[in-house]
Amino acid sequence: MQDYHDYLAEVLIPEVDLKARVQALGEAISRDYAGKQILAICILRGGVMFLTDLIRHIQPPVAIDFMGVSSYGVGGRSSAGQVRITYDLTTNISGANVLIVEDIIDSGHTLASVIEMLRTRNPASLEICTLLNKTSRREVDVPIKYCGFEIPDKFVFGYGLDMDEYYRNLPFIGVVDLEKYEAGA
Ligand code: IMP
Ligand code: MG
Repeated sequence: MQDYHDYLAEVLIPEVDLKARVQALGEAISRDYAGKQILAICILRGGVMFLTDLIRHIQPPVAIDFMGVSSYGVGGRSSAGQVRITYDLTTNISGANVLIVEDIIDSGHTLASVIEMLRTRNPASLEICTLLNKTSRREVDVPIKYCGFEIPDKFVFGYGLDMDEYYRNLPFIGVVDLEKYEAGA
């Protein structure tokens, strides 16, 4: 396992910009949900860092739960279109104001499936908050209410997002140099 510097093509979003944007998103969510309570559902594992930073900036009461879904296998760089639940919620979401917290929306297949599944459980409301959005890659339409950053069609890592499960700990979002990564892996 190499140091991330070997694969980093560029820092796309520095830590200071992430912090400012996450705070602004939390403030927007606080305004929209004033007087209500929120059930934030984090999509594992990439959304974890975003979730924990985001909810610190949300004023209304927040409960959290987690859902694991798999779309990319290790080594895969494109969505299979098939989504499997690997870890289900432990909360009954019926009547809840559900806010899905996701790291990145790429083809849209993952979130489209998650939304379809969660709707059948009758939440009072269901909205999506994604840190990153690769609109140019969209194959299935997904209704995004809150978005941190629009990003180009590049494979990114850090701040929760992984390269074959590692490097989620980086405090910024970086672009992976896939040629160097594949040569060194
Ligand atoms: P989608 O189903 O194609 O929208 O894929 C969404 C999932 O793919 C995300 O939750 C990520 O786990 C993963 N993914 C997509 N693009 C990237 C990327 O650039 N870096 C890391 N993971 C990514
Ligand atoms: Mg993910």
